[in-house]
Amino acid sequence: MAPKARRVGGVVRPPGDKSISHRVLMLAALARGKSELAGLLTGADVKSTARVLRQLGAEIGTIRDSTVQVSGARLTAPGARLNCGNSGTTARLMLGVLAGQTFAATFTGDASLRRRPMRRVTEPLKQMGADIKESGDGLPLTIRGGTLRGLTYASPVASAQVKSAILFAGLTGKVPVTIREPYRSRDHTERLFAHLGLGIHERNGAIVYEPSGHSNIPSFQLPVPGDLSSAAFLVAAAVLAEGGELLVENVGVNPTRTGFLVVLERMGGHVDRVNLRDAGGEPVADLLVRPAPLRGTEVSAAEIPTLVDEVPVLAVLASRARGATVFREVGELRVKESNRLELVAANLRAVGVRADAQGNDLHVEGTEKPPRGRVETASDHRLAMSFAVLGTVEGADVKLSERKSVAISYPGFFDDLRKTGARRTAHGAR
Ligand code: S3P
Repeated sequence: MAPKARRVGGVVRPPGDKSISHRVLMLAALARGKSELAGLLTGADVKSTARVLRQLGAEIGTIRDSTVQVSGARLTAPGARLNCGNSGTTARLMLGVLAGQTFAATFTGDASLRRRPMRRVTEPLKQMGADIKESGDGLPLTIRGGTLRGLTYASPVASAQVKSAILFAGLTGKVPVTIREPYRSRDHTERLFAHLGLGIHERNGAIVYEPSGHSNIPSFQLPVPGDLSSAAFLVAAAVLAEGGELLVENVGVNPTRTGFLVVLERMGGHVDRVNLRDAGGEPVADLLVRPAPLRGTEVSAAEIPTLVDEVPVLAVLASRARGATVFREVGELRVKESNRLELVAANLRAVGVRADAQGNDLHVEGTEKPPRGRVETASDHRLAMSFAVLGTVEGADVKLSERKSVAISYPGFFDDLRKTGARRTAHGAR
């Protein structure tokens, strides 16, 4: 008897948006009074931000999906190193926050984070007047902030982390900053500043922050939408199924983040955005997804910032598409939680797909052969989840080197994937 085709069905809710969760915690810690945050991501990266902020004197309740209370405070010198774990966003944005404070603090992180470039942030912060002692282009490093001067900066990379670090330095140092980027990166910091009435605007394509007379940050209440970067794995699993329909509820659809949906449509996938609404200045929708046959596409350099974290799962989809897919100018993937450019290509090859990195481009050739083989996740959450999705296709036998890294951004991932009706997900060591 032929095996039963895999059908998807039901309703799932992805966890809170990681980028927004970091930012609202930092702003609430800097605000006067008590803030209430609902729907925060409970993943390890956000816990790293909360831990670091507590070391600096903020009072933050236990990080959970329901409401978390934060009492802002004047930040004070930490008694120990600030360990940012695996979280690049914690390290880079907090460097901006501390650039405007008068004490010294040393940042460190896990082995992956210590290897990631920090000069992209320390350079502009030094130009603003922060005193930063670093021994290479990474952590650990020590920052002593203080009296800053304003900055007009053309960033060589389209990075929301660089942009946000400079905006936070402008905010805490009470100085104006103007930032240009080669392509527009995610704009959550700008939206939050606008929502809180902090002097942010756009001028001739540049992002401008100008402190106002009273630059106290008001305490606030805010719902955090679900993370499209996490929802992308569920959407991909549904597209690769053979029948049914999946509803992914409460997903942030900020246009600076929706490149995954745009490219998926171009490949032949169907995702309806229903029940469009606003949550704390961010657009939110429910996503209705059906399986579809896919075709290869070309993803341009300008699109990359809008889907930078979704390249691994899009590459997995491309491996099941008719024809070839190329991702242009994805060199930034080399400096994410792992060398994603090389590892996506190597892991696709390990399960029988033709894929390679040519210069800064990633090429993937679609195939109908069932994927079979062992995948090295390098403890990178997005690699683990992308290849787990590939493991749900008919006839697949995908073994992951580990699964626990998913807790960085999506602690309930394997349960949710099972809930969608995934016949079988990739197996692997715990
Ligand atoms: C993030 C920005 C992106 C993204 C990261 C989160 C943020 O990094 O890859 O997962 O919250 O600002 P870059 O801005 O460095 O590309």
